[in-house]
Amino acid sequence: MPKNKTIKTDLLIIGGGIAGLRAAIEASKHCKVLLITKGKAGESATEKAQGGIAAAIDKIQDSTEFHFQDTIKAGAGLCDKKAVEILVNEGVSRVIELIKMGARFDRAETEGGTGYSLAIEGAHKRRRILHAGDETGAEIERTLGSKIISDGLVKISPYTIGIDLIIKDGKCIGATAIDTYNHLTLNILAKATIIATGGICQTYLYTTNPGVATGDGVAMAWRAGAEVQDMEFIQFHPTSLVAFKELEDIIALPRFLISEAVRGEGAKLINVKGERFMPSYHKQKELAPRDIVSRAIVNEMKKTKSKHVWLSLSGLGAEKIKKRFPMIYKTCLERGLDITKENIPVAPAAHYFMGGIKTTIEGETNLPGLYAAGESVSLGVHGANRLASNSLLDGLVFGTRAAKTALKYLKEVKQLPKTIKTKAGKPCSLNKEKLESIRMTIRNIMWKGAGILRNGKGLKTASQKLKDINQKLDYQPKNLEEVEVKNLGTVAGLILKSAIDRKESRGAHFRTDYPQTDNQNWKKHLIYSTKDKA
Ligand code: SIN
Repeated sequence: MPKNKTIKTDLLIIGGGIAGLRAAIEASKHCKVLLITKGKAGESATEKAQGGIAAAIDKIQDSTEFHFQDTIKAGAGLCDKKAVEILVNEGVSRVIELIKMGARFDRAETEGGTGYSLAIEGAHKRRRILHAGDETGAEIERTLGSKIISDGLVKISPYTIGIDLIIKDGKCIGATAIDTYNHLTLNILAKATIIATGGICQTYLYTTNPGVATGDGVAMAWRAGAEVQDMEFIQFHPTSLVAFKELEDIIALPRFLISEAVRGEGAKLINVKGERFMPSYHKQKELAPRDIVSRAIVNEMKKTKSKHVWLSLSGLGAEKIKKRFPMIYKTCLERGLDITKENIPVAPAAHYFMGGIKTTIEGETNLPGLYAAGESVSLGVHGANRLASNSLLDGLVFGTRAAKTALKYLKEVKQLPKTIKTKAGKPCSLNKEKLESIRMTIRNIMWKGAGILRNGKGLKTASQKLKDINQKLDYQPKNLEEVEVKNLGTVAGLILKSAIDRKESRGAHFRTDYPQTDNQNWKKHLIYSTKDKA
């Protein structure tokens, strides 16, 4: 049996991606912070982000107003204008701060005179994406991580997974967790808690997300009574590498992303008959919004009875490919594909979650003491479809804001209980193999029933299967697998409920039985809490 330990801190941050790290830096100036992260330090979707971070730093060719307009347009009617204004305006200051902390983005002499090489991706009308080669997320994670370590103010506990929030008198006072490295179960008592656990796309068979993206924060907030919003909106990235298809079907490795920036530099999509197809789907062609490109690819795959389409980089030239996309070049080469000579087989995969824990623009949830930021949150900044390269910016901007709000709150908290009693709960009777098989079943159900194209019949079948599965997951988790599989089941159930309820198509949610956008009835968010549990 792991030993039990109680820890006290001012602020608990759950999650070590961009939002959690940026929140930690902000808060560490004023209070004691403990950051727990379930993998090794830095293991997150942030670390894998390729394309870059969007910010209108070019004051001549671009403006925050243009960035605002592009974000609103991609969001398909569900963006909160105030949240987007904050994103694009505060985003510029946050990015400049990040550069001052040491982030090394690619430089170039440009007309706008910023000194930075600015890329373009889908649905942006200007070049505004700062990047570090094709490993922008890793560079940002390195910058924020180094700042935290050199300041030495934040205690980071890696390999520590949050289980449940601790709620007393309706307020959040921390979380229970498992420190898998030291074999401890923890009661972490905190005056305030920020959830920054990132995405949920491991609920899908094919995803670009790392294995850690199992929606833990969303599930634990939901169980504690927090509201969730926009759960039906999953963004499918158009171009993930289809390499080891057979292996992927068995063990569902995350699919390697081929950044949208590759299309930004001129790569073209062609079907297996060799025909370029995007011009017949949208005037922005390969740089149309992601949902449109993903659906076009699925259509072409169906038409040609193929498992992929091709991404052709033939117009880019070998030198540019190697210089601008060194990691993509190297990774593809390791998988037997020389992208300076050959087309890349690609297909869409689940990539980003626009839904999540409902917060205000200050990062507040409906539970006092509980704050949230980053991909685990839905505050309307991305609407029904996120604009490319706005996610890292979201983490920076709203991670900072959540920390500032939590700081104000925790100053008012007089004291924490010395210890707390947690419920023992029903133990899990499923062994590791069984849990892994359930994990794969959930991912298959979601891919089949709630994927890029959905319909009422498929969603309801998926929902019934999930209900049966979720009955088996009604246990108190004691290890990583038990936590993750339970959380995947919870999040998948919520996605299905929301997708069944929204009887229209909008942004990333496309229903073949309701193919039109219905602004009269559905230009609204779907918000649920345990009170509405079916
Ligand atoms: C990409 O590089 O295509 C991903 C960037 C993003 O998700 O915004």
